[in-house]
Amino acid sequence: MSILIYRNSEDQLYKIPIEEFEKRVGIKYLDSLIFERPEYREKLIKKSQKRIRRPHLKQMNSWTLALHQKAMERPREDLYYIRWISGYFGYGVFAAQDIPALCYVGEYLGLVRKKRFGKFRFNDYVFGYVAADRETPYIIDAKEQGNFARFINHSDEPNLTSRWVVKDGLTHIILFANKLIPKDSQLTYDYGEYYWRSRSSPSLIT
Ligand SMILES: C[S@@+](CC[C@H](N)C(=O)[O-])C[C@H]1O[C@@H](n2cnc3c(N)ncnc32)[C@H](O)[C@@H]1O
Repeated sequence: MSILIYRNSEDQLYKIPIEEFEKRVGIKYLDSLIFERPEYREKLIKKSQKRIRRPHLKQMNSWTLALHQKAMERPREDLYYIRWISGYFGYGVFAAQDIPALCYVGEYLGLVRKKRFGKFRFNDYVFGYVAADRETPYIIDAKEQGNFARFINHSDEPNLTSRWVVKDGLTHIILFANKLIPKDSQLTYDYGEYYWRSRSSPSLIT
């Protein structure tokens, strides 16, 4: 497995082995969700399956799968590159080629664990985990283990949409382009109001 990164010092795009990337950024790179305890996976499969028995959710899920299932099975790492922006923003993810509207870009991956309370409740890399459309006591924590999606910055006018989809019984959080994303534009999604409540307001990304 490899990943595209942009080296600012050389003004060039490089394809580097994932092991090198992991060393550089200090995370373990994942290619699927992992679970803090095996029983969490089983519980979440049961919850997701129960939820999509509802006709309107079942229908919605079929549409989403019809659009994205093939791409989910063969994710494309050539669609984006990771680039250091600044000390303020940190890294960001950019389009390595024009990305057409509705194109599947990837899944938000990390460690699925229970929400904790107190000081260690949240970190910057947490995405709420749902069973289909319903909130659960679990989150996807990509602080130490995750994929490119953990480097995507926030925008109030994002070019990616995040959505749940139940595939093989389990809910996945996927990201797809909501408009044509021209090459070299920064990829963004809306983290939601809740994320910024405990932080200073986000800056504009155009
Ligand atoms: C999930 S991380 C995104 C990747 C991050 N830039 C990095 O290098 O790891 C979320 C953090 O990125 C920064 N960030 C993301 N979007 C931002 C925005 N629109 N304005 C300011 N900071 C942003 C904030 O520090 C936020 O807590």
